[in-house]
Parts: sequence; structure tokens; C-alpha cells
Amino acid sequence: MSLPYRSSPRRLGVALAAGLLAAIWTPGLAQASSDEHESYMDDHELAVEKLVRKRNIAIPYDYIATLMRLPNAFGEGAACVLCHSSPDPKHSYRGLDLTTCEGIKAGATEPPARPMFEPGDAEHSLLRRRLRNNRMPFGVPFDTPRDSENIQTIKSWIDNGAKDDDFFRQEVLPLFKDRNAFGGMQACTECHMSNQEPPSFHELNMGSHAGIMLGADSVARAQEGLPGVQIVIPGDAEASPLYQRLTENRMPAGIEPNESRDHPNIQILMQWINQGASCD
Ligand code: HEC
Ligand code: HEC
Repeated sequence: MSLPYRSSPRRLGVALAAGLLAAIWTPGLAQASSDEHESYMDDHELAVEKLVRKRNIAIPYDYIATLMRLPNAFGEGAACVLCHSSPDPKHSYRGLDLTTCEGIKAGATEPPARPMFEPGDAEHSLLRRRLRNNRMPFGVPFDTPRDSENIQTIKSWIDNGAKDDDFFRQEVLPLFKDRNAFGGMQACTECHMSNQEPPSFHELNMGSHAGIMLGADSVARAQEGLPGVQIVIPGDAEASPLYQRLTENRMPAGIEPNESRDHPNIQILMQWINQGASCD
């Protein structure tokens, strides 16, 4: 399985080709590549970014309804409504009804019942997480138990303050170095071993307490004067990306982890939420 570093070879290739074309066709290369983000996008992504997102085109609910009913809408996989079609948990996973606008806004009805987003705030939504974030370890099958003893150990360590104590050193840290701890084929530290990317994904070091507390992207963000992205929030496992990544499958269930996390339809769904999630 080939893995996407933030600038994968394919994207790098696209960016290089775009750079070359720009050098040939436009007088000012610097001007053409002023938006670094855009240079990583393919044509489909670029069209949505420039013609829909930047101009804040109003997204009609009709389009969202179509996305929920469409196979492969967010990358290869079954349509959302196949598994989430009723508020009754007997007929629909998590009692999540994605066939109506009201159902989408209500979220899961099975305990813990909760909305998937607050209208106006896509960034912090559960829905965004579920469409973008791969469950860890990368490539773990979606039906791997999510309440195993090892996952419970991580949860209680975080809920009890995430301290650098004997419990952490003897019970928790070894799990991150163990290939068999959470299912899948690789240990966390095989991909998250230092603050250097590459080789370490998201500059995340899961080999020590200090590394875990430093969080993700600490080097890149330090250049902007920001701290790393916290993956552990002491006292609150449910809110901690580390625990979420061990327990939340990316949707649609079974999607290949290599599918783009920036799929244009994810962007459009998020824009609909940011615009207030209107049912019109
Ligand atoms: C093949 C079945 C299947 C498909 C298709 C599917 N899901 Fe799921 N979904 C599940 C299962 C099973 C769960 C519960 C297990 C879990 O949380 O990982 C779930 C959980 C969720 C949750 C968590 C809700 C909560 O509050 O706990 C969200 C959100 C979600 N799905 C959204 C979607 C979206 C959006 C799509 C379409 C892109 C989708 N699902 C497609 C099976 C599916
Ligand atoms: C085969 C390599 C691989 C393995 C093994 C792996 N990861 Fe990851 N991890 C990734 C990649 C790639 C990303 C970024 C892409 C994504 O989020 O899906 C990532 C992202 C993360 C993030 C998000 C960081 C952020 O910026 O918010 C966390 C947390 C994480 N992994 C935890 C773990 C844990 C815990 C384990 C072990 C159970 C693990 N990873 C095992 C490759 C891996």
C-alpha cells in the first residue's frame, strides 16, 4: 500500500507540471504560484475551489440529498443512506437518518445521541472527522473491535489526566510500539516515530510522553508561532484525537484509507454546513 505524505509523489508531479506550464505561459511564475494550496489540487478540486468555494456559492439541500444517496460520493464506497436510513437503530446504524434534512441535522438517535455538526461550524464537526480521518493504525479493518482492553487502557490513562507515571510507562507506552495492540499490521511508532516528516507522518512522535504531548505538526506550526495540534486532552478521552482515531471509522465504512481526504464533495458538504445547513 502506498501512503500519502502531505505532498505525495502524484501531487508533487501535478504541482511540478503546473509550475512548468506556468513558467511557459505566464510572465510571472511567482504570481502564478502565489496560492501554494491550489498548486496541489487536481482540475476537479481546483474547479470546485475557485468557482464554488471562493465565491461562496449557496449549496442547495438538493445537492446534499443527492450526495447522501450516491455511491462513491466521497471516494469509493457505498452510499451513506444504505447504512443510515432511519432514526430507528434497529434498521440504521447509530439510528442516523441521512435520507432527510431533519435527520441529517438531528444526528445519531442511539445513545450517545448527538448532532453531527453545529450549523455554521464545519471545522469542528463530527461529520468532518468521520469523512476525513482514517482510523488508526492506518489500514485497520473497520470491524476491528473498538472497545478492546487496550483501547480502554488508553481511555482511562487520558481520562485520569494523561500523566507521565508508572501506569503510562508500563501499560500505555508499550502499546504504541506493539504491532498487535490495536489490530492492523503496524505499530503506531512505525509511522509516528519522530518530529521529522518524512519519515514520521504529521511530525508525530508516539515513542515518548513528551512526543505525544507535543502533538502533531509541531515543527511546521512552530514556524507560524503556533503549538502542535494536541492529540491528547488530559481528562477528556472523548475529545482527544488520539482516542477518536482508535475508535472512529472513516465513512463510508470500508473506504480505502488512501482515498483523498480533500474530496471536492467533502468540501461542498462542509460549505453547506458553514452556510447554515439550510433545508431549502
Ligand atoms: C456499509 C455501511 C455504512 C456506510 C455506507 C456508511 N456508514 Fe456511517 N456508520 C456505519 C457504522 C457501522 C457506524 C458505527 C460504527 C462507527 O462509529 O464507526 C457508522 C457511524 C457513522 C457516524 C457516527 C455517528 C455518531 O454520532 O456516532 C457518522 C457521522 C456516519 N456514520 C456518517 C456516514 C456518512 C456521512 C456516510 C456516507 C459517506 C456513511 N456514514 C456511510 C456504517 C456505514
Ligand atoms: C502505516 C502508517 C501509520 C500507522 C501504523 C499509524 N498511523 Fe497514524 N497517521 C498516518 C497517516 C498517513 C496519517 C495522516 C492521514 C490521516 O489522517 O488519515 C496519520 C494521522 C494520525 C493522527 C492525526 C494527527 C493530526 O494531525 O491530527 C493521529 C492522532 C494518529 N495518526 C495516531 C496513530 C496511532 C494512535 C497509531 C497506532 C494505533 C497510528 N497512528 C498508526 C499513518 C499511520
